[in-house]
Amino acid sequence: MAARKKKILQSGVCFLFSVFVFGMIFQEGVIQAAEKITAVTPANTMSADQVDKNMGRYTRKGADTCLKCHDEDYKYPIYPVFFSKHGDRNDKRTPMAQLQCESCHGPGRAHATEPRVGFKRARIISFGRAASASSVEQNNQCIQCHNNNNHLAWVGSTHETQNVLCVDCHTLHKRKDPVLDKTRQAAACYTCHKKQRAEFARNSVHPVRYGKMVCTQCHNPHGSLSDGLLKTSTRNETCYSCHAEKRGPFLWAHAPVAEDCGVCHEHHGSMHTPLLKKRAPLLCQQCHAPVGHPGVAYDESGLASQTPNTFLLAKSCLNCHSQVHGSNHPSGVKLMR
Ligand code: HEC
Ligand code: HEC
Ligand code: HEC
Ligand code: HEC
Ligand code: HEC
Ligand code: HEC
Ligand code: HEC
Ligand code: HEC
Ligand code: HEC
Ligand code: HEC
Repeated sequence: MAARKKKILQSGVCFLFSVFVFGMIFQEGVIQAAEKITAVTPANTMSADQVDKNMGRYTRKGADTCLKCHDEDYKYPIYPVFFSKHGDRNDKRTPMAQLQCESCHGPGRAHATEPRVGFKRARIISFGRAASASSVEQNNQCIQCHNNNNHLAWVGSTHETQNVLCVDCHTLHKRKDPVLDKTRQAAACYTCHKKQRAEFARNSVHPVRYGKMVCTQCHNPHGSLSDGLLKTSTRNETCYSCHAEKRGPFLWAHAPVAEDCGVCHEHHGSMHTPLLKKRAPLLCQQCHAPVGHPGVAYDESGLASQTPNTFLLAKSCLNCHSQVHGSNHPSGVKLMR
């Protein structure tokens, strides 16, 4: 009885082993066959013997090798990258003209050819929050090519120090990266900047919500040398880039305007038109004493004596001081004309 059991067990093991061996041979055959079929992309020979000191060797045939497994049926869309700027092989600077997939994903010979250890293939750099590569490692893959003036301040910028990834905003296995589409840009920012989404939903806003403006008209998400990732050196310079008439020079300037538009205005959105932080008279009375100009509804005699109260009603202080940004009228010293 025991002997029979042993025999069954032995032949079972024997059978499993031969399935395994046959499987290995068969798989090798498929790969060899695939190697012949998938020569759609030109063979990339320049990568053959380059070695990366951390990650080992590059493959000999670049994309052709990868596409054997990462083909149309792969769960993640691979092919669109060939139709993006990165796929332009006539441009010598692009990944496809260089190490191809491995320009971004790093050397992949081990990943592509070595047998699996357990359930995992050898490591290759992948991108995104779930990837094993650190934010620095991921971003460096991009920075090796993207380090022009526009990206000069990336290192040390708020986004870099907060471990934001290039691929938090950019999607590369697409024909057209959505974040470069002006109508979709803000949505990419709002995935993290919820407060700003609320600000841009207020009733007086810079028209981002209507697709007429984008965040990157004022900000450089790749870093800048000024506060708040602004494209220009000061907040006022940013405002002047579109509202040039507010720069002056004025015959009669109003001191806070040249100092900082942000004294009176919100930058994204506000409940008080036009983009005001407060409404007059309170806006003005932060600095100007109400003496002689009582912006109040009630005074000692009950309802404020002057009816209608021009200091309070309609545009309040602006009823008379309409040139709040400065005046060029010879007698505009009180900013009234
Ligand atoms: C022999 C088949 C095969 C080849 C060739 C191959 N891969 Fe993979 N690759 C896989 C499989 C299977 C996975 C799924 C993850 C796993 O099993 O570890 C994977 C996963 C990946 C991942 C995701 C890794 C992760 O950590 O999630 C990337 C990126 C990748 N491959 C890129 C490449 C590139 C680039 C090449 C060419 C240099 C390549 N692959 C060649 C089979 C292959
Ligand atoms: C081998 C060099 C190389 C690598 C690596 C590389 N790029 Fe590029 N990238 C380019 C070139 C070249 C262009 C085209 C630039 C141009 O047209 O002026 C480009 C264009 C872009 C564009 C603009 C695309 C468009 O449609 O206008 C974005 C966004 C971009 N790259 C992001 C990235 C990110 C993110 C990474 C890292 C995952 C990366 N790149 C890795 C070379 C590279
Ligand atoms: C916070 C979001 C965000 C991050 C993070 C980000 N980008 Fe961008 N990137 C953008 C937006 C938005 C644009 C479009 C800019 C425009 O329309 O002026 C852009 C444009 C680009 C372009 C094309 C125009 C140019 O500046 O040359 C490249 C290349 C690029 N990014 C590369 C990168 C690289 C590399 C990284 C990582 C080091 C990165 N980006 C990180 C949002 C981001
Ligand atoms: C310009 C850089 C770049 C090039 C070139 C590139 N990739 Fe990618 N790849 C990425 C980025 C970034 C992601 C993360 C998702 C995204 O942005 O679409 C990614 C995602 C992937 C994934 C999914 C990994 C996962 O996490 O599941 C695979 C597989 C992959 N790439 C394989 C390839 C293959 C194969 C090629 C060559 C045909 C290639 N990539 C070329 C940058 C690149
Ligand atoms: C992956 C998350 C993420 C995305 C996506 C993102 N940001 Fe940020 N951003 C941050 C973090 C984290 C900070 C720092 C903390 C804060 O101010 O909320 C920050 C800060 C900022 C700041 C303030 C910088 C400072 O120094 O005060 C600006 C401006 C900014 N982001 C603009 C953008 C723009 C524009 C986009 C879209 C193109 C964008 N961000 C997309 C994560 C993100
Ligand atoms: C009209 C110009 C303008 C536009 C458009 C704009 N911002 Fe700003 N943003 C500013 C200014 C000005 C600041 C204040 C910078 C400073 O002085 O620190 C700022 C500050 C920020 C900050 C830092 C925190 C805060 O609110 O002060 C974040 C985050 C931010 N902006 C994100 C965005 C995002 C996301 C978009 C697009 C949806 C956007 N901004 C569009 C001008 C703008
Ligand atoms: C990229 C161009 C641009 C920049 C930079 C810019 N603005 Fe504007 N601003 C606009 C546009 C466009 C409108 C909308 C005009 C309209 O609705 O007719 C606007 C409207 C306004 C309004 C009136 C809002 C209303 O409800 O009528 C104020 C106030 C304003 N901006 C202040 C500022 C301040 C302060 C800054 C600097 C932080 C600034 N802007 C930077 C383009 C810009
Ligand atoms: C002392 C407060 C104050 C400062 C500082 C200030 N503004 Fe204004 N701004 C106002 C008020 C009040 C209004 C509304 C005027 C009205 O309703 O007649 C206004 C209106 C505007 C408008 C919309 C109407 C118009 O005149 O075009 C724009 C644009 C504007 N300001 C831009 C700016 C810019 C840019 C700066 C900085 C250079 C700035 N403001 C600084 C108080 C201020
Ligand atoms: C951040 C402080 C501040 C705010 C807010 C402010 N102002 Fe002024 N304003 C000043 C300063 C400073 C002067 C210059 C005073 C001087 O030269 O003696 C001035 C001057 C004036 C003058 C001319 C005074 C003179 O004697 O020539 C008028 C009128 C005026 N402001 C009206 C307003 C109105 C109306 C508002 C509200 C829309 C306002 N101010 C908001 C700081 C402010
Ligand atoms: C009915 C018109 C009117 C209204 C409304 C008005 N002012 Fe005046 N304001 C004047 C006149 C006229 C002067 C010049 C007085 C003078 O030369 O003696 C003046 C002068 C000023 C001065 C210069 C200081 C001075 O005494 O010369 C300031 C500051 C000022 N107003 C702020 C305000 C503020 C803040 C409000 C809103 C609470 C406001 N004004 C509302 C008419 C008005």
